[in-house]
Amino acid sequence: MTTLTGKTALVTGASRGIGRAIATRLAREGARVAVHYGGNHAAAKDTVAAIEASGGRAFAVQAELGAPGDAEALWAAFDAHAAGLDILVNNAGILGGQSEIDGVTREGLERLFAVNTTAPFLITQQALPRLRDGGRIITVGTMLTRGAAMPRAIDYAMSKAALDVMTVALAKQLGQRGITVNLVAPGVIDTDMHQGRLVGEALAWLSSQTPLGRLGTPQDVADTVAFLASDDSRYVTGHRLDVSGGTTM
Ligand SMILES: NC(=O)c1ccc[n+]([C@@H]2O[C@H](COP(=O)([O-])OP(=O)(O)OC[C@H]3O[C@@H](n4cnc5c(N)ncnc54)[C@H](OP(=O)(O)O)[C@@H]3O)[C@@H](O)[C@H]2O)c1
Repeated sequence: MTTLTGKTALVTGASRGIGRAIATRLAREGARVAVHYGGNHAAAKDTVAAIEASGGRAFAVQAELGAPGDAEALWAAFDAHAAGLDILVNNAGILGGQSEIDGVTREGLERLFAVNTTAPFLITQQALPRLRDGGRIITVGTMLTRGAAMPRAIDYAMSKAALDVMTVALAKQLGQRGITVNLVAPGVIDTDMHQGRLVGEALAWLSSQTPLGRLGTPQDVADTVAFLASDDSRYVTGHRLDVSGGTTM
């Protein structure tokens, strides 16, 4: 008996990176997983195929996030495959230009907030009528909103900080339905998001910043999300769980 048998999950940004690892892990626990993606159809197809090859159940859901109608399009695609939801994982996100404040443009700032803040807010809002009592909302934030703030990621961290607030406010509202709402705050995880920059001196320096002496992996985050999705975390809500190997201490 796996822990999520009979549950349906939606993971945004599940074609690659952290989202792919989360989708794969939830499917391994028995959940039927909606693998959301934006433009990379081949990667989403690979994720679904990998889940099915391991005996799991999954389907792809396409919706480009960051523009009006994005959440509506996502849920319409989801509804074509499933009736109701048990686990929502808000994972899709972008890093932006990584400039200090002087280099941040209005267009860049608005794009970050559209994808990282507005989209998960509206996706969560529209998930609520579909989410069954006892369900889970898990959002992927960042360690950079507390303790590890960096001037070069000011816009990115600001767009994610709103999700810390959303988590606590919704946990208070949805507790009466038995729904828990939590956020994981990863440290640096080696994915496409870093465009191959995590090598050499940068890799050595970043690794030295964490007491565990290495960067995180998508699996490190996925295993934490699996705990928050499971019944083992039933009395944990409104929590921001740091998954940075201790970088923020
Ligand atoms: N990597 C890190 O160091 C790190 C650390 C802390 C937090 N995080 C957070 O973890 C989450 C996942 O990051 P990652 O490193 O796994 O990123 P990634 O490898 O770049 O993957 C991003 C995923 O999000 C989807 N996505 C991005 N923009 C989208 C858009 N506008 N519309 C629809 N889908 C979109 C992508 O879909 P397509 O494949 O279709 O493009 C892809 O599935 C993000 O929220 C990120 O902020 C990452």
